[in-house]
Amino acid sequence: MRVIGVGLALLTGILSAGFAGGVGLKDLTSAGKGGDSVSGREIYVNTCIRCHGIDGTGAQSVRLVPAPADLSSPAVQNRLDGTLFKRIHDGKPNTAMGAWKHALSDEEIWDVLAYVRTLGVGSDARP
Ligand code: HEC
Repeated sequence: MRVIGVGLALLTGILSAGFAGGVGLKDLTSAGKGGDSVSGREIYVNTCIRCHGIDGTGAQSVRLVPAPADLSSPAVQNRLDGTLFKRIHDGKPNTAMGAWKHALSDEEIWDVLAYVRTLGVGSDARP
C-alpha cells in the first residue's frame, strides 16, 4: 500500500511539473524523480536494447511492424514522464512493445525511464 502511495505521489508530482510547462520542463522531468539512470542502464541493456538499440534509435537486427519507437527522438522525449511510464508499464497494444509491469517493479521502470531520458538528442545527461 505504501508503495502505491509513493507511486501516486510521484506521478502527481510529475504531472504537475509537466503542466508547469516552459523551457525548464525537460530539466524538471528528467531530474529528481527518484529514477536512477545507472541501474536503469543495466535494465535497458538487459531488456530493451534488443529492440530499441544501444542508442535508442532501434536495433538493426530486428524487423518489426511497427518498428520499435526511436527513444532518442523529440517525439518520444517530449512526452511527459507519466506518459512514458505508462507505455513501459502497460505496453502498447498491437505492437511488440509488451507490458513490463510483469517483469519490472515500478521503481525499476522509473530507473529505466531515467536512462531513456539520457538517450535524448542533445541531452546533457548523455554519457
Ligand atoms: C520486442 C521488442 C521491444 C522490446 C524488448 C521493448 N520495446 Fe519498447 N517498443 C517496441 C515497439 C514495437 C514500440 C511501438 C512503436 C510504435 O508505437 O509504433 C515500442 C514503444 C516504446 C515506447 C513508447 C514510445 C512512444 O511512442 O511514446 C517506449 C517509451 C518504449 N518502447 C520503451 C521501452 C523500454 C524502456 C523497454 C525495456 C524495458 C522496451 N521498450 C522494450 C518494441 C520493444
